[in-house]
Amino acid sequence: IFEEAAEGAASVAEEIAALIRRKQQQGEQVVLGLATGSSPIGVYKELIRLHREEWLSFDNVITFNLDEYYPMQPDELQSYVHFMHEQLFNHIDIRPENIHIPDGTLPVEKVKEYCLAYERQIQDCGGLDLQLLGIGRTGHIGFNEPGSSITSATRLVKLDPLTITDAAKDFIKEEYVPLRALTMGVGTIMKARQIILLAWGEGKAKILQQTVEGRISDEVPASFLQQHPRVQVVVDQWAALELT
Ligand code: F6R
Repeated sequence: IFEEAAEGAASVAEEIAALIRRKQQQGEQVVLGLATGSSPIGVYKELIRLHREEWLSFDNVITFNLDEYYPMQPDELQSYVHFMHEQLFNHIDIRPENIHIPDGTLPVEKVKEYCLAYERQIQDCGGLDLQLLGIGRTGHIGFNEPGSSITSATRLVKLDPLTITDAAKDFIKEEYVPLRALTMGVGTIMKARQIILLAWGEGKAKILQQTVEGRISDEVPASFLQQHPRVQVVVDQWAALELT
């Protein structure tokens, strides 16, 4: 628990940078699972600073993003492709071919095969070394809404009405928010060797308490993280308000 979100974000960025540098020294690649939304922005800012001011290179980094709205064109302002480039990729030396973000442009009949291939690509890279997560007020991680099973894989899902309400701020009007998304599954996330869940602000306090201290259940998909052997929950004092 950090007093301020910025301190928590800086500490997480340091940890990611240390992992990247360690792997670099071993001549190995590092596979990061990344999230969008407001929660990781401070981490990405600090990673960019480390790149600019402290010679952190992303040359050995491969990334897989958790999710993308469906349908969604990559050049739309609300796309996660746009978000990731604006917030991180345009400012660091990652190789474009090492970036993976679910493709929201596919015709629906191609989606199943594409999702299987996304899982396979992660495995072929050696699996996720570290997965960064935010949490939605429904208890979702990625877009794994209530009802998602612990073994779920990358797939097309329907967004929860509360998630659509929360996304409306980015889409001008609630009716413009896509009803579906492509997301890594809970099972995909649970296979990561290390997980860091971020939550900032009082708006996350209730769902964070349920996630960390509540019963493990698909009603709060993030609660499955209790069963992961190496997960850190990094929060500010406001998100921690309801923890006992
Ligand atoms: C985003 C994602 C979502 C968000 C969650 C929290 O890639 O997978 O699970 O992490 O909706 O969003 P923010 O951080 O905007 O509160």
